[in-house]
Amino acid sequence: MSDNFAWTKKDLLGLEYLSAGEITRILDTAASFKEVSTRDIKKVPALRGKTAVNLFYEPSTRTRVSFEVAQKRLSCDVVNMDMKASSVLKGETLADTGRNLEALKIDIFIIRHSYAGAANVLSKFVKGSVINAGDGKHEHPTQALLDIYTLREKFGKVKGLNVTIVGDIEHSRVARSNIWGLTKLGANVTLCAPPAILPKYADKFGVKVTSDIDEALKDAHAVNVLRMQFERDDLKAFPTPAQYFKTYAVTKERLKKCRPDIIVMHPGPMNRGLEISTDVADGKNSVILEQVTNGIAVRMAVLFLTSSAVRRGE
Ligand code: CP
Repeated sequence: MSDNFAWTKKDLLGLEYLSAGEITRILDTAASFKEVSTRDIKKVPALRGKTAVNLFYEPSTRTRVSFEVAQKRLSCDVVNMDMKASSVLKGETLADTGRNLEALKIDIFIIRHSYAGAANVLSKFVKGSVINAGDGKHEHPTQALLDIYTLREKFGKVKGLNVTIVGDIEHSRVARSNIWGLTKLGANVTLCAPPAILPKYADKFGVKVTSDIDEALKDAHAVNVLRMQFERDDLKAFPTPAQYFKTYAVTKERLKKCRPDIIVMHPGPMNRGLEISTDVADGKNSVILEQVTNGIAVRMAVLFLTSSAVRRGE
């Protein structure tokens, strides 16, 4: 359990910028919020009178809806901007969009953007909380927090767990946030991908790196399967989807050689039959939909804590 220190960060831009104690505090706060979603009346007044805007410059299903559900469960007013019908199309900058929304007395800004660092930029121009909902290849902190929350819920701890991340690590903001969060909390992280898409930065984090999926899964308590982003130009040549499935997909056959209690995670959206087989995605080791449910409590915790820092003027 974390100490009950005063939260000082108004923004959540990435897990790189949080201490182990701060990550644990978010997880503990999420645990206390989880019960709210099981009530008949799924609402608490924690953010009554506050207004959040959801700025999704890139598509999203889980993250966008999960943030909106979390905001409503905290009694926060919500504005969902349609970025395709906004003045961004007339050339308005992110800074001006932020300043104008703040003039409309918005308190909380959730942003997903294709540019790495977009959330950091916005946070320089607004006094309210900025929460990164995924920025380019940089970070997706609330996804990693809900992944880590799910791990902790399943195994009762994070320290000492063997967590394998397999798939398109090079292009993945989910991988980066997971690596920061898991290593800070003392998990043993293994990255597994074809050599061409194993990131150059891997050594820096003290993680294990391999291109052998069976070796990567051998002692794993959990495998986090990432989507193969075949739409990326630099993945057009290698490997083909069929080759990838044969060599790297998490399948029932591969799971037979793993710990019986291994949990299978995926941030979504899944490519069934590409990085994961359907029998594994829907099988007894899968916690994929539990991750989605846990995302609500984790985002409630992040909204609550960051807003508490704004209230105190930090
Ligand atoms: N995990 C995730 O970010 O999914 P969405 O793109 O649907 O939000």
